[in-house]
Amino acid sequence: MRKPRCGHIAPASSKVAEPTCLRNARVRTVISLPPGERLSCWTLIKRSESHSTRLFLPQPVPRELVNEALALAQYAPSNSNIQPWHMVFASGACRDRLVAALIDEAQRRPPNVPPLPASFQHFRSELGAQVYGAMGISREDTARHAAAVLRNWEFFRAPVAGIVCMHRDLGPADALSVGMFLQTLLLALTERGLGSCVEVSISGYPKIVRAQLAIPTELSILCGLAIGYPDPEFPANKLHIAREPIGENVVFLDN
Ligand SMILES: Cc1cc2nc3c(=O)[nH]c(=O)nc-3n(C[C@H](O)[C@H](O)[C@H](O)COP(=O)(O)O)c2cc1C
Repeated sequence: MRKPRCGHIAPASSKVAEPTCLRNARVRTVISLPPGERLSCWTLIKRSESHSTRLFLPQPVPRELVNEALALAQYAPSNSNIQPWHMVFASGACRDRLVAALIDEAQRRPPNVPPLPASFQHFRSELGAQVYGAMGISREDTARHAAAVLRNWEFFRAPVAGIVCMHRDLGPADALSVGMFLQTLLLALTERGLGSCVEVSISGYPKIVRAQLAIPTELSILCGLAIGYPDPEFPANKLHIAREPIGENVVFLDN
């Protein structure tokens, strides 16, 4: 079953100190870029069809690279120029405490993430089959499956754990603006050799996140953002998650 079509029926006619390992989305091999060299904008955008990182190396993330990426993301457009994104980053001991508390909670009860509507659930199943399949884990292998899912709340071992927030009184247009900020941030991080994973799973334990990071109640917790250097040996980091042809998402109405 494909997603509902909402009534439309017409078909759609900085610097880097050392050589940086980056995935080239087109040829799908890991390439080494010389110091200071960057991937093109279009190669970076194809990042979106290349990979989220689901296992990171312990290698620390230089703060200046994250700051550079954030400064670029700050140019994202937003409704009434509100710039509604609010990011909280935890690293070091703070990140470790957050992860310990999240893992403890995740072992006690399921996350409070709203279920997908039935007609969209096949997307999650198909994705899960690819992601866990790449790790050699079948659906029936419940123990290994649960252990792999649990890594969500470890931020997939990323040394930088981000929390993406927005004021609770803002609405869908502002959430769109946060999304534009996030995509720009992901691309800028990728350009700097850093991997990332956006994680709605983190928002499933808002009380824990708030308590650990002193996030006030006027901020809604939208998702997490894991940032670090991808483990090049981890099979699920090499996945190619396909995209729909644009005709599934777009209609042109000319007459
Ligand atoms: C809003 C949002 C929430 C996501 N939440 C999760 C998550 O909780 N866990 C996870 O492993 N991936 C999560 N992802 C990553 C998506 O699964 C991934 O972007 C999608 O399958 C496309 O794959 P790609 O990023 O590798 O191209 C999320 C992505 C977005 C944009």
